[in-house]
Parts: sequence; structure tokens; C-alpha cells
Amino acid sequence: MSIAEALKKLTRILRLAGIERPLLEAELLLSFHSGLDRVGLRLHESDSVEDEDSLLALARRRANHEPLEYIVGRAGFYSEEFIVHPGVLIPRPETELLVDAASALIERHSLRNIAEIGTGSAIISVMLAKKHPQITIEASDISPKALENAKVNMERFDMSGRISLHHCSMLDDIDTKVDMIVSNPPYIARKEELPPEVSLYEPHEALYSSGEDGCDMLKAIVNLAIEREIPYVVCEMGYLQREPMRRFFEERAIGEYRFYRDLAGLDRGFELKVC
Ligand SMILES: C[S@@+](CC[C@H](N)C(=O)[O-])C[C@H]1O[C@@H](n2cnc3c(N)ncnc32)[C@H](O)[C@@H]1O
Repeated sequence: MSIAEALKKLTRILRLAGIERPLLEAELLLSFHSGLDRVGLRLHESDSVEDEDSLLALARRRANHEPLEYIVGRAGFYSEEFIVHPGVLIPRPETELLVDAASALIERHSLRNIAEIGTGSAIISVMLAKKHPQITIEASDISPKALENAKVNMERFDMSGRISLHHCSMLDDIDTKVDMIVSNPPYIARKEELPPEVSLYEPHEALYSSGEDGCDMLKAIVNLAIEREIPYVVCEMGYLQREPMRRFFEERAIGEYRFYRDLAGLDRGFELKVC
């Protein structure tokens, strides 16, 4: 089978499976399989595809709605390429806004000691460490798979000396002074329906939080900051969580807080000052 024929075949398989951009994804799978970029595929359309069976196996995985990022083992974030392992949350573009919000606080208040709760593949910690050479980061996660993936990305970006990983819940094993907590915690309410790419393949402990509105972990992070006198908190949240979080901030007498929106104009996160 030639590259041009393979492209047609894969596109057809993906279209029949209901994948939204079948041609683009067929090209990406074929690029991954052949090592040629998308322009290279066009230049070599009449070359034969090697190991057709494994190429078709990749297409079948995608047709079963496995996310492309798990199949190719990579995901783009903040113009960088990160390694992503199955079983670890795939980076989302909106999380770049969390990095921006955290970055602005680091600069404005000359913060140095940052803690990230729920680091996953370490995209947030790595980007913050890259942007701010003066900071160090303590990053936690309850998932051993996530911590393994985080280590790979820290090494990839040469950040191992600046970011320390902790296998623990919240900040349980971190007793150093912290100036700011940054977190993209699980915040989806259990009743919410998710597409199969997400619900069947991404880790549920990275997605769902308890509470009717999914706000429990967000609230626990703010409570922890109050208890440990950690001055700044910046978190990503879901687009329906502004009102419950606003009420909670009022209850906890948080004087300074601000919500930020994503590029679609939806509420997406908050930053606050605790003391
Ligand atoms: C939404 S994912 C975010 C991953 C990564 N920071 C990102 O933005 O792509 C949430 C992460 O929090 C971790 N997590 C869940 N509960 C936790 C807890 N109690 N303490 C620390 N990490 C937790 C999950 O394992 C998951 O890696």
C-alpha cells in the first residue's frame, strides 16, 4: 500500500468511527508511523508504507476513541512538546491561562517558593520553572503514573534540580515555606457527561471531584492555604463554578480574589490572596 492509499484508507476508517477531523488525524497517525512530517507525506505519496499491520492497529485504536495524544505519546502545550503517558491527564490549551495567571503573580510579588497540587505530566511546573529562573517548585500528585510522567518531562526540559516531586495528597509531605499554590485540580462534578475520549481513557482521579458542583477539591485547596498561611492561590476551575466559589470566598472572608475567563469567554479559574 502506498502512502497516498494509506492516507485514504485511514481517513475512511476514522470518518466511519465519527472522528471529527479524519483527514488531519490520518495524516498525524501516518506521520507518527512513518517519521515523515505532513509535507513529507505529500512528497513521498507513492512510496510504500512499511509495516501496514501496525499502522492499521494505530488507526483502530483511534477509531475506538483513544485520544491521539496517548497513541503518539506527545502533546503540545505552551508551544512546547511534552511527553504524555496513557493514564495521565492530557494537557489542555486553557491551562496555558493558568500558567499566565500564576506567572503574573510570581512577577508582581517576587514569589520564589511555589507548590503545585496535582502536577500530572508536570506541564505547569515545567513552564513556570522555564519562565522564572529564580523559583523552585514542590509538586505533588497521588498518582504514581503521573509522577513517572512528570519526571520524564522534567528531565526533558532539564528542570529536575528546580522541581521536586512528592507522592502525596495535597501538600501532606511538603513542609517547606510556600508563597503560592498553583493547581489545576480535578473539578468535574460526577453527574457531568463527558465524551468517550475523556471518560473511557483519561484517569478519573484527574477529572472528578466530589460535591454536587465538583468544587470540593478547589475548596480544600483554599482551606489548606488559609490553614498554612500560604498567601497566594491560583486555580483552574469549571465554567459553572464561579458562583459557588464566590460564595465560598465570602464565607471564608477572602478579601482579595479575581476570576479569569478563557478565550471562549467562559469562567475558567481564580486567583486570590489569603492573608
Ligand atoms: C486535572 S489533572 C491536572 C494535571 C496537570 N497539572 C495538568 O494541568 O495537565 C489533576 C491531577 O491531580 C491529581 N490529584 C487528584 N487528587 C489529588 C490530591 N488529593 N492530591 C494531589 N494530587 C491529586 C490527579 O492525579 C491529576 O494528576
